[in-house]
Amino acid sequence: MKPVKKAVIPVAGLGTRFLPATKAMPKEMLTIVDRPVVQYAVDEALEAGIEHIVFVTGRNKSAIEDYFDIQPELVETLKASNKTKQIEELERLQLRPGAVSFTRQQLPNGLGHAVWCARDIVGDEPFAILLPDMVSFGRRGCLAGAVELYEKTGGNVVTVEECDPTETDKYGIVGKGEKVGNGFVITDMVEKPKPAVAPSNYYINGRYILQPEIFELLGTQQRGAGNEIQLTDAMKRLSDTQAFHAAPFDGQMFDCGAKDGFIKANVAFALARSDIRDLVLGPIEAMVSGQQKRSDAA
Ligand code: UTP
Repeated sequence: MKPVKKAVIPVAGLGTRFLPATKAMPKEMLTIVDRPVVQYAVDEALEAGIEHIVFVTGRNKSAIEDYFDIQPELVETLKASNKTKQIEELERLQLRPGAVSFTRQQLPNGLGHAVWCARDIVGDEPFAILLPDMVSFGRRGCLAGAVELYEKTGGNVVTVEECDPTETDKYGIVGKGEKVGNGFVITDMVEKPKPAVAPSNYYINGRYILQPEIFELLGTQQRGAGNEIQLTDAMKRLSDTQAFHAAPFDGQMFDCGAKDGFIKANVAFALARSDIRDLVLGPIEAMVSGQQKRSDAA
């Protein structure tokens, strides 16, 4: 079984749910506490043993490339003012030279198409995909659980979480089969099924380990929902010939492509940080109880 060493992070979407902020700024550069959303995905990939990150970018996304580059003038300025802590933090976050690639999706034709654009850089080996706007919060990153299961099962692995059973029509849902290691065999994959016909309430939450045969299928994939080339449609075809397993995530995923998910993530990460928690906890509690009093009085 080949190990998973490369991860594709697609960042070419338009981010329409976050307009007007995304008119001039990539949604992947919005900050959770003090680092951009995309940094959390990179940290999670490295924690899971990934050695090479492939970004699929698009127009107006050059801030992401700049963010992952060295800024010599900034480092010199920090040195001159003895800001050692900040220099160390920038060095810690720096990706190794040659361990990051950028390729462009010329038109936002969908997630499946974005992944297909990375085919030459990934080559003939299994690879991970992380949707960066899904931000993982927990004891360990979501992708680490997928890699752990992959090492037992090989094949293809997606990570899942349980959703409210009445809301299956918002997600890609998988059917649950026999238990394997920390996960289970996937018996079915359905995009946004009505609750009455959903095979389970486990939804695919944005992390994948796929075999390279997916690229050939993506290359011939017809447009699906939203007139876009959908990754799930090609995965469903791949599941005719290859096994798929699900790794349930034991933490929580925040959908930071949506305003409420982004705000919740900021609160959760701020409260989990020892340097920020005490600064924000009291004021948040006071705001919430003030709000409660106002709505009780109304
Ligand atoms: P989303 O559907 O959440 O992204 O795609 P979006 O299209 O940017 O968002 P909205 O719905 O308009 O607000 C999940 C991930 O896939 C990337 C996005 O950048 C995001 O990280 N993506 C999506 C692409 O790279 N290319 C695409 O054509 C579509």
